[in-house]
Amino acid sequence: MSKAESWGSRVGLVLAMAGNAVGLGNFLRFPVQAIQNGGGAFIIPYFVCFLLMGIPLLWVEWSMGRFGGKHGHHSTPFILDSMDKRSFWKYVGVFGIFTNLAVAAYYCYLESWTLSYMWHSLAGTFLGKSSEEVSSFFSTYVGLNTWEPVLFWLICLLMNTWILSRGLSGGVEKAAKVGMPLLILFGIFLAIRGLTLKEGSDGAVFDGVVGLNYLWTPDFSTIWSPKVWLAAAGQIFFTLSVGMGSIQCYASYIRSKDDIALNAMSAGWMNEFVEVVLGSSILIPIAIGYLGIERVVEMTQTGGLGLGFRTLPYLFTQWGPLLSALAGFAWFCLLFFAGITSSLAMGTPCMGFLQDEFKWTRSKSAWTFGAAVFILGLPTVLFFNHGVFDEYDYWAGTVSLVVFALLEIILFAWVFGMDKGWKEINEGGDIQVPTIYRFIIKYVTPLFLLGVFVGSLPDLYKKIIDFSNPYVVGSRILLLALFAGIAYLVYIAYQKRLKEGRFTS
Ligand code: ALA
Repeated sequence: MSKAESWGSRVGLVLAMAGNAVGLGNFLRFPVQAIQNGGGAFIIPYFVCFLLMGIPLLWVEWSMGRFGGKHGHHSTPFILDSMDKRSFWKYVGVFGIFTNLAVAAYYCYLESWTLSYMWHSLAGTFLGKSSEEVSSFFSTYVGLNTWEPVLFWLICLLMNTWILSRGLSGGVEKAAKVGMPLLILFGIFLAIRGLTLKEGSDGAVFDGVVGLNYLWTPDFSTIWSPKVWLAAAGQIFFTLSVGMGSIQCYASYIRSKDDIALNAMSAGWMNEFVEVVLGSSILIPIAIGYLGIERVVEMTQTGGLGLGFRTLPYLFTQWGPLLSALAGFAWFCLLFFAGITSSLAMGTPCMGFLQDEFKWTRSKSAWTFGAAVFILGLPTVLFFNHGVFDEYDYWAGTVSLVVFALLEIILFAWVFGMDKGWKEINEGGDIQVPTIYRFIIKYVTPLFLLGVFVGSLPDLYKKIIDFSNPYVVGSRILLLALFAGIAYLVYIAYQKRLKEGRFTS
């Protein structure tokens, strides 16, 4: 490891961890999942998943990371390896590098759209255009009819790589300290606009609160729908970045006696505030205020990104030139900060691994990550309209998270053992974790995760046997090759450790 690598301050650590969690998922994915799954019907499963799966996994991952860091490990293969003698675990840990690389590959492309749209909002590109024209601007954009998307994508990759090459306290932490407060500020501005939208003014057809009521009026009729539960669980995973491997990596740079019990909760609840308060007060109220519930529900059935990129820029133009430029800039700048503080976290596990195992410098590791994301991301850019982007999101951004989380909690609660695990969670804690969570981590969360995994099997099976789209099949092979390649590197690293007499725990 690079000895200089550590967090500069507690505030910086919590903001970076919150930045890791707060992402495009909070503003684009959450509202769409909520709408697709019946609004008020979604919110109860969502909170149950947060309490029984999200919070326990946060404590588990933070403590696994700090535990691994004590032994000089900063990526999940050797963090997991240090928790049990069986060599199998380091290959389970491959997920923690694989997922971050594969998610970063499509996530950075999405992040780069926000940069471009920020520019177009300020330049007034959408002013005077019809809703169809604004929507088709997006189609043209992702259809790669110009070089612009590639240019913004490269800029975005370079920004990520450069910040990563500056290290945790010199790069990641600074980005979080600037990005998170601005994001919240822009979020509050847009939320106020969304919630004060009045029927009849600025062309709105309904009050902004109609959308909010739709989301926050609990609907118990669909509480037993497995589809809604799976969607809620998937959202909790994605939004908290649990099951990814990035939390463990960030936590591995915490000093061994520093608190994790309270820090984990601060970052986790900050994410929830941004998601359920800000995330539900912008896209949904504004879209429903103009288009009504039925139309918005219909629009989200074909995918989620449309509302944020096709619809909102047009709706902003209803507010006049100045306010629409400001709102568009605030919206896409907020998305950019949300995105970059998450994609930076996706870079660190890969860098930690290269630095620990192959003694690479921070800068070389960061540029290697940038190059890997470029190569892996290229198919998502070139073949976006052929389903490659969604395929990455399905395997890396959905399935891998559940599989890894299930395996890691079994390791933590049943192999490493709850006695040691509980001590790890509470060590140096500024709060005492409620004792009920000892029971939840041991029994409830693993069973819950097993349920989510089993529930996803029919869909998984349907995907696996579908060979109809060559682009999708190709991207699946690429992802498999990536996993195998990382597993091979872990094997080499292990052999190297044996040769050098370096023990893994
Ligand atoms: N947690 C990140 C997000 O919500 C990945 O976008």
